[in-house]
Amino acid sequence: MIHRTVYMSRATRLLTDIEAQDLADRASESNKALSVTGLLLFDGRRFMQAIEGEKAAVQDLMARIRADPRHDMIAIVSDGPAARRKFGIWSMSYKRVGEGCCTTGYLNQVKTQMVDIPDLDLRAAFIGFAKLAYNDTLSDQENPEKTSDKR
Ligand SMILES: Cc1cc2nc3c(=O)[nH]c(=O)nc-3n(C[C@H](O)[C@H](O)[C@H](O)COP(=O)(O)O)c2cc1C
Repeated sequence: MIHRTVYMSRATRLLTDIEAQDLADRASESNKALSVTGLLLFDGRRFMQAIEGEKAAVQDLMARIRADPRHDMIAIVSDGPAARRKFGIWSMSYKRVGEGCCTTGYLNQVKTQMVDIPDLDLRAAFIGFAKLAYNDTLSDQENPEKTSDKR
């Protein structure tokens, strides 16, 4: 039996794409050693992450992630035992969603990446997150005031 935790959180400051990519690369490297697999989406303001593996490894990692000052407002989406891995091919797949991806093609890309995840609830949660980021981007573009307070 493996353990899986899925959560969403808010970046405490604007991370650059390079910082976010660096975070994901380090996470991937260290997860490999712990046999932890998962998926991390980041829309520039919010994270959504699934981590799965041996219970102790996931709980230890979750404690470290919780203590990380780069994010707060951590909301657990699901947490518990699972029969098998759903993200088994990725030590930590990372995808930047939203900004700069203002076409429906980008949503399809996220959906394509999710296609291997057999759990419909889990898939819907990640696609919903990506869709929200996409809608945010649209309304930011339509509303110049909102765009200016983002900077
Ligand atoms: C959104 C987010 C996701 C993270 N995901 C992971 C992860 O999957 N694996 C990991 O080792 N570190 C991850 N980290 C980094 C950890 O919080 C922590 O910085 C890292 O494990 C090093 O911990 P340590 O300084 O206590 O050794 C993540 C951080 C954030 C902000």
